[in-house]
Amino acid sequence: MRALLVLAIASRVFAQEPREAAREEEKRACTPCHSLKLVHSQRLKPAAWGKEIDKMVGWGAIVPDRQLLLTYLSEEYSETKAGPAVYLSGNGTKAK
Ligand code: HEC
Repeated sequence: MRALLVLAIASRVFAQEPREAAREEEKRACTPCHSLKLVHSQRLKPAAWGKEIDKMVGWGAIVPDRQLLLTYLSEEYSETKAGPAVYLSGNGTKAK
């Protein structure tokens, strides 16, 4: 029964666009502790996103597919993109 459930979830995820799958994965993995605004207010290089993911995993985030999230975050929130309207600091308050 559990195997069926896993299969059903996996086929749903793989049927989607990688970006869509990554968004869902981000929501699942990153929102237990803070809002995605904190994530989306960053503009980082891929190496820095890698460190960020590893830091969060060290704090308890569960990330089974690190590469999926890393590619997604590096593309969507790259240092070459325009900055967000408001930068947030670690505790979610305005940084500037
Ligand atoms: C176990 C709890 C937890 C989970 C899950 C978690 N984070 Fe965090 N995250 C934190 C805490 C606590 C802070 C605030 C740290 C601070 O004040 O410096 C934070 C801050 C951040 C920041 C702001 C910059 C920084 O390093 O402080 C980013 C970006 C971030 N998290 C990304 C993510 C991403 C991406 C995920 C999903 C893969 C994630 N977080 C999942 C606990 C978590």
